[in-house]
Amino acid sequence: MSDVLDFAGVGVARGTSILLDDVTWQVEEGERWVILGPNGAGKTTLLQLAAARMHPTRGTATVLGERLGRVDVFELRPRIGLASAALAERIPGGELVRDVVLTASYGVVGRWRESYERMDVSRARRLLNALGAEHLSERTYGTLSEGECKRVLIARALMTDPELMLLDEPAAGLDLAGREDLLNRLGQIAADLEAPALVLVTHHVEEIPPGITDVLLLREGRVIASGPIERTLTEQNLSATFGLPLQLERHEERWSAHARPAGDASAADPLAGLANATPAGTTSAGELGGRPDRPQ
Ligand SMILES: Nc1ncnc2c1ncn2[C@@H]1O[C@H](COP(=O)(O)OP(=O)(O)O)[C@@H](O)[C@H]1O
Ligand SMILES: [Mg+2]
Repeated sequence: MSDVLDFAGVGVARGTSILLDDVTWQVEEGERWVILGPNGAGKTTLLQLAAARMHPTRGTATVLGERLGRVDVFELRPRIGLASAALAERIPGGELVRDVVLTASYGVVGRWRESYERMDVSRARRLLNALGAEHLSERTYGTLSEGECKRVLIARALMTDPELMLLDEPAAGLDLAGREDLLNRLGQIAADLEAPALVLVTHHVEEIPPGITDVLLLREGRVIASGPIERTLTEQNLSATFGLPLQLERHEERWSAHARPAGDASAADPLAGLANATPAGTTSAGELGGRPDRPQ
């Protein structure tokens, strides 16, 4: 069994919609994953399961050795750091930045009457410092720029010294300088051997920070391919994931992608030839062929 995440045949249904279908995925200690897929692919749903914020309706999901449905999620959640847009919206605008980070120790948003240990206070300060946000400590959350909010939320996610760190679209909404600054900091976290296992969600390959080891490609709730990024993040797999012929480029540890120009012979069918193109050990996108359409 995998140490961090072990999902077997996981499905999530809501009414007649199937949000996730037959997802099998393992994350081991020390791995740094990116989940890539178009809007509506089920990325946030998958992250909500990993964060023990949701249960699967099919299959089994084990998080940090605890099977969802059989564990008290309130004991499990402090072991997981989560930064997402949904969480960002729940933080009161009048909250002091240092309290945004501190309150993570209690798994709450909004400081009320908790008292904090001096150790917690200095940890919060150190984390804000590591994310280039210490100077914002006494500001209120509502006055921060988008980039500053993101950095504060990541400091908050690290506050409980989690064993698993989950980031849902951490670079969304940032300008170029803000994105590059954040990716650089995430790259440093990814390179830190002491840092927790990391799972980061995005729909842009340009937002993959350096140091990512593995990728899971998701389309319409299904896994197109998963495995080590070197051999799994291919043009074929990416094209199948986004449903259009893409050209993928890599510059050292950064990626970029754009549509193939019309008339390009390889632009014909993004799913063509995948069964043979996918290396052993990864899920083949060629399996997609005969699947019936499912309700959206
Ligand atoms: N509670 C729900 N009931 C029905 N459909 C939902 C619900 N939550 C999300 N969805 C749908 O499930 C799909 C996957 O959503 P999500 O996991 O947020 O995708 P992503 O993060 O990849 O954009 C979307 O089509 C979304 O509209
Ligand atoms: Mg999402």
